[in-house]
Amino acid sequence: MSLHIGAQKGEISEKILLPGDPLRAKWVAENYLDGAKQYNSIRNMFGYTGTYRGERISVQGTGMGLPSLSIYVTELFNEHGVESAIRIGTCGAIQEKTKVGDLILAMTASTDSNINRRFTNGLDFAPHADFGLLQAAHEASKKFDRVHVGGVSSMDYFYDETDANEKLIKHGVLALEMEASQLYSIAARKGKKALAVLTVSDHVITHEAMDADARERTLNDMVEVALAALSAN
Ligand code: HPA
Repeated sequence: MSLHIGAQKGEISEKILLPGDPLRAKWVAENYLDGAKQYNSIRNMFGYTGTYRGERISVQGTGMGLPSLSIYVTELFNEHGVESAIRIGTCGAIQEKTKVGDLILAMTASTDSNINRRFTNGLDFAPHADFGLLQAAHEASKKFDRVHVGGVSSMDYFYDETDANEKLIKHGVLALEMEASQLYSIAARKGKKALAVLTVSDHVITHEAMDADARERTLNDMVEVALAALSAN
């Protein structure tokens, strides 16, 4: 057991999916994992382990935002033997070419948070995905129509009232979300593998949003790609 994860030793696989929403963790366990067993309910941040095509895989909710994710990921890496972690979640697109329903494989994850600077004494560390996981996810996503590989930015604000978007658009950043940068940074410090596979749920500039059908379909595509990448690594 760790402070926020009530699993016994060995109950969590070294390969894990990380949705922000704990109910999405439940949905993944029910729809993709055979014999899934719930190992965590502390704070209703559900976690499950089961098998996918014969291999043990876990899925754990992380909550929203960099600080919440950092609690779960640190405990998973330090105390539960996790080696490879893939965030599955939604993002808000900021480029013209990134449309609602598209898949994004986050090669890098910038942030407006100060959270890494405390480790780097002002140096700008560049949080990036594990290349093996990224390559495998890219391979698995070739059958889907609209897939982008590039940078995202993990923002402290969902409702940002500043002009931060404009600067990020100019740097070619594809989309905004709120967790990947911490996942990549903690994984880097601990020598672990990490990736974020995201679906575009809304467009920050055009305010277009996903309908229920598209949500279900793209959720499936995202989970399939992430599971294939975990299996290959
Ligand atoms: N900003 C941050 N995170 C998000 C967004 C957004 O617009 N959409 C989905 N996740």
